[in-house]
Amino acid sequence: MKKSFKKMGLCLLSVGFIFHAASTIAFASKDEANLPSPEEKILTISHRGASGYAPEHTIPSYRLGEQMKGDYIEIDLQMTKDGSLIAMHDETVNRTTNGTGRVKDLTLKEIKQLDAGSWFNRQYPQNAKPEYEGLQVPTLEEIIQTFGKGSKYYIETKSPEVYPGMEEKLIETLKKYKLIGSNGRSSNVIIQSFSKESLQKVHHLSPTIPLVQLLSYSEPATITDEEIETIKTYAIGVGPSFSRIDKAYVQKIRSHHLHIHPYTVNTEEDMRKALEWGVTGVFTNYTDRFQKVIKEFKKAHE
Ligand code: G3P
Ligand code: CA
Repeated sequence: MKKSFKKMGLCLLSVGFIFHAASTIAFASKDEANLPSPEEKILTISHRGASGYAPEHTIPSYRLGEQMKGDYIEIDLQMTKDGSLIAMHDETVNRTTNGTGRVKDLTLKEIKQLDAGSWFNRQYPQNAKPEYEGLQVPTLEEIIQTFGKGSKYYIETKSPEVYPGMEEKLIETLKKYKLIGSNGRSSNVIIQSFSKESLQKVHHLSPTIPLVQLLSYSEPATITDEEIETIKTYAIGVGPSFSRIDKAYVQKIRSHHLHIHPYTVNTEEDMRKALEWGVTGVFTNYTDRFQKVIKEFKKAHE
């Protein structure tokens, strides 16, 4: 009895995979000018770096993400009082440094004096390391100078309404380091935002940069064909909160030939679920874990 259930499960999985493969093939042909298609590559996006193991948005966190074979370093941007783009998730420095105050009210020099690592050692003693103490908040330029054109960057314009000129400064920096290609495949960056206006501004300033519309839901996610088609006029994909979506949502997005990169997928169980639903990548704090799950998933479906 047990065995036949197992067989039935395997059979259903195979049917599911064939469906998944068929849909990705259709997806690939339409999407050649953009990112690699999922049968070539399911993207692992190191969320704030490999931030499950090191203080988020610090060079060691990004470096770990790269060592763990992440495809993209995820960076949240805020802008200082004197116009520097820095990597930080929150609008204030309070949570991830030993300082207080809003980024927009602090100069880069002031922010550079803060310790962006000790909080992590206190909060996550199991992953604490002496070298995390006294880490600085990196600027976008420092990150690019450290990892260069050999890495890819998935950059979020955070709170763009608080930072007029943020998009212009971002594009200027990306141009300076020649990170913008003629399409998604040749570009070293993807720009993401919850703000449609910010993405449209980036699109206007530099039309070949691939964009991803982030979506936040307070209830189980639904999206209409019309909404998807509107997003498609400027973006190559969506980034919804994983906890609010299901297989039908993923398949609907995919049927419109858009990428779908849910955030933030951290457990092996959720990673497997995401792959079975047909996502084209995930944001994760555990880059190595997702690499392992992808490998196992591919092997199981060979
Ligand atoms: O950018 C994807 C995901 O990071 C969005 O949520 O709050 O972690 O930036 P948040
Ligand atoms: Ca983010």
